[in-house]
Amino acid sequence: MSSYVTAVLPTDQPPLMHQAVDEAVRLLREGEVVALPTETVYGLAANALDAAAVAKIFEAKERPSFDPLIVHLASKDQLDLVADVPPEISATLKKMVERFWPGPLTILLPKKPIVPDLVTAGLPTVAVRVSSNPIFRRVITALGKPLAAPSANRFGSISPTSASAVQAELDGRIHLIVDAGACMFGLESTIIKIEPGSPKMFIDIVRPGPITPEDLKAYGKVRQATRTVVDEATAAPGQLASHYAPKTPLRLLESPDDFIPEEGKRYALMSYRGEEKDGYLNLCDWEEVMMLSPGNGKLPEAAVRFFYVLRALDKLGVDEIIAEPLHEHGMGIAMMDKLRRASRRV
Ligand code: TXA
Ligand code: MG
Repeated sequence: MSSYVTAVLPTDQPPLMHQAVDEAVRLLREGEVVALPTETVYGLAANALDAAAVAKIFEAKERPSFDPLIVHLASKDQLDLVADVPPEISATLKKMVERFWPGPLTILLPKKPIVPDLVTAGLPTVAVRVSSNPIFRRVITALGKPLAAPSANRFGSISPTSASAVQAELDGRIHLIVDAGACMFGLESTIIKIEPGSPKMFIDIVRPGPITPEDLKAYGKVRQATRTVVDEATAAPGQLASHYAPKTPLRLLESPDDFIPEEGKRYALMSYRGEEKDGYLNLCDWEEVMMLSPGNGKLPEAAVRFFYVLRALDKLGVDEIIAEPLHEHGMGIAMMDKLRRASRRV
């Protein structure tokens, strides 16, 4: 593993922003990896068409090469560069791309040979999206090449939604982190596959995220990703059961009755909105209670804070993190999916 001095460049003043963008583009042109903000989570980016650069992503993250990467495009016009769109789905795809790009929707499509096999882990499909983050867009537009970018965390760990979280994960492993503050959504993009169907297309959700089944249903019959253990051979090899795992054991409750504290153990609570009437606050003498949505229980607010709260609770050194269940609709679907994965020890 190479060792670097990792620079964190701010973007909160226009001249600083331009400097940070220029530096990111310079490094990417040299075949280096750079941590960049997106509207979902921070990504660790490299030129997607340069296999040697992409290999550095896997090295920095200690990511196994069977786990494919998302390819980010500068705009939907670059789609034909990397993907072969099957004619049966092209009308639906076009409408969805018009509606959701730039934004947190990733689509699996048959790949073109120009995409290195390392990017797709040898799969015949490539995952593509267009990020709406203005800084990411500046970098990718100036570079003129698609960017492969997984979340900027070490493999299996909690996704970063701030530059300091990236630093905690990858300090010394990369040259640059571009700091653009907190991510707007806080959860990774929704990943879908469009399957031909009649009279409607099928929209298969491979990974739940900010674009919800409700948002997608106008474009086809939505089929939800399985909630049970996803094995490595299925459509989303990276959706491993043990993903998003804090180092501290995490238990997801179904109801307050499920929890009986053990003598001498220290527990922290991940609470939805911190209301006594929900029945979790008084279950024990919590070492710490952190709320996902202190603003009264709103799922988008909870999503923005989700990985931040998980990371903060993980730092406490308690024996166990106890998580309240969330409403399983909207962005609650993605958070529950992540809590289930985080609670599994496999
Ligand atoms: O919001 C996001 O999607 C963020 C930002 C940085 O864009 N990226 C992200 O990438 O979450 P990553 O690598 O952490 O998660 C991508 C997921 C993995 O589970 C991977 O297995 C899956 O997408 N994936 C990528 N290409 C695939 C393919 N061709 N077929 C099936 N799954 C694929
Ligand atoms: Mg990830």
